[in-house]
Amino acid sequence: MSQKAIAVLTSGGDAPGMNAAVRAVVRTGISKGMKVYGVSRGYNGLLTGDVTELNLRSVSDIIHRGGTVLYTARSEEYNTPAGVKKAADFCRELGVSGVVVIGGDGSFRGARDLTGEGIPCVGIPGTIDNDIACSEYTVGFDTAMNTAMEMVDKIRDTAQSHDRCSVVEVMGRRCGDIALQTGIAVGAASILVPEVEFDIERDVISRILNNQSTGKKHFIIVVAEGVGKVNELATYIQNRTGIESRATILGHVQRGGSPTLRDRVVASEMGYKAVSLLEEGIGNRVVAMKNGAIVDYDITEALNMKRVFDTNLYEIAHTISI
Ligand code: F6P
Repeated sequence: MSQKAIAVLTSGGDAPGMNAAVRAVVRTGISKGMKVYGVSRGYNGLLTGDVTELNLRSVSDIIHRGGTVLYTARSEEYNTPAGVKKAADFCRELGVSGVVVIGGDGSFRGARDLTGEGIPCVGIPGTIDNDIACSEYTVGFDTAMNTAMEMVDKIRDTAQSHDRCSVVEVMGRRCGDIALQTGIAVGAASILVPEVEFDIERDVISRILNNQSTGKKHFIIVVAEGVGKVNELATYIQNRTGIESRATILGHVQRGGSPTLRDRVVASEMGYKAVSLLEEGIGNRVVAMKNGAIVDYDITEALNMKRVFDTNLYEIAHTISI
């Protein structure tokens, strides 16, 4: 019987910990007697033939590195039925009988389509946003939050020195998880997320004025990207309270940097699980975390799940920031 071969790719926005996942996939695959190919620039590599066979040493020295050594991309050509078929034909020519896709929801839709063309795929949630409904954790989330926390700590030094209010936007696309947890960790006076309706007067201005009446002189407001408009909000706060205010958009700094211990370990566990599924010939699955354990779901089922925002934690955040 010929040696089984699988491929691994990273797709969509990069996330710290993707390299640790790639490493785990390669090492698990080889230890199970498989050939493992690395695909460059997401699904594009399956269309252009940009793949390389990886060995144990190809993935040495990457567990601590941010970004993705495989590069990543969002492919327009792949997002067509003809593109998916071309990618599947290429996999068959190469003898690849399974693909591990590390990315977010968009990447999982691609994995579902490729499975539909006869190449079993398994997804690993890799995105800083923590916005994959089927998983309570996505690789990259912890590192991004810790980076955001460190950045806001620095902003706080200058806000404190000037008795200012700093309005800080963090990433997360339509998901408020980075904002919620970072907001708690930096002691934000208010946290605005797209999942919870808010009123600027009640949830920002009154909170600042109440805090001010008990002696607080500088303020941090954390705003999720999905809410946005931080410049307008800073101007509004300054006009309404008389407190000098500044806005900062943290941006892509949150996507880089060496992954935290949590991201490296979860990525390693998920990489191992993905290859174990492909070894059994099982595809169309997403690896996920549930109650701290690594599990897997059908991709279509996973894509139809609804994310649940932690309103309890949101309540706690606002209760203790008075
Ligand atoms: O999904 C990760 C993420 O960083 C989001 O938080 C953000 O909305 C988006 O990607 C930014 O994408 P790009 O790097 O393409 O500007």
